[in-house]
Amino acid sequence: MAFVVRRLVEQDAEALRALRFEALRTVPDAFLASVEEEAERPLQWFRTVARGSDRDAAFGAFENDALIGMAGFVAGERQKERHKATLVSVYVSPSSQGRGAGRALVEAVIAHAATQVMILQVTVSANNGPAVALYRRLGFIRFGTEPKAVLGTGGYLDNHLMQIDFSTRPS
Ligand SMILES: CC(C)(COP(=O)(O)OP(=O)(O)OC[C@H]1O[C@@H](n2cnc3c(N)ncnc32)[C@H](O)[C@@H]1OP(=O)(O)O)[C@@H](O)C(=O)NCCC(=O)NCCS
Repeated sequence: MAFVVRRLVEQDAEALRALRFEALRTVPDAFLASVEEEAERPLQWFRTVARGSDRDAAFGAFENDALIGMAGFVAGERQKERHKATLVSVYVSPSSQGRGAGRALVEAVIAHAATQVMILQVTVSANNGPAVALYRRLGFIRFGTEPKAVLGTGGYLDNHLMQIDFSTRPS
């Protein structure tokens, strides 16, 4: 079935909240946030994330008007970090995986980032093979690994740090 990727708007806030809860319950080790932390966030927080700003943007993949995937862009705020941004919250519902939605979402964030910043970074659990492979195929290069970066459900997990430097990326 075809899906559409677009930037989220404020009206997508409730669908975004539902998808984020699904993501945190389904793959808790793939995200820094916990279900408990997320539950404390008011709907207004999700409205703000969905709406985005001149520095942040949220993208969604829709299938039959239902939100089935998401990916976010968060740009550095401090003056000395404004050339960098981070790809965050990449998730596709299990029943919609393997059909290109993840790739399309990350490509949308990369295209957006290329117009906004010099460097797009992502932090990914070293044992998350599908995500690491996806990012590598789309041009992210690993520049480091943080040992025991996160306390996951089964113990401490290493994180790979990956980035695209648009100023040196081959066109
Ligand atoms: C990572 C994720 C977003 C990929 O979404 P998806 O919709 O299944 O991805 P796509 O169908 O676009 O596939 C993207 C690429 O990954 C490959 N791929 C997909 N699932 C894979 C798997 N389980 N193992 C290996 N490769 C896989 C595909 O072959 C495809 O490669 P191609 O574009 O060169 O053909 C999805 O698996 C997911 O939501 N995982 C849980 C959340 C997560 O780990 N997020 C990352 C946090 S940093």
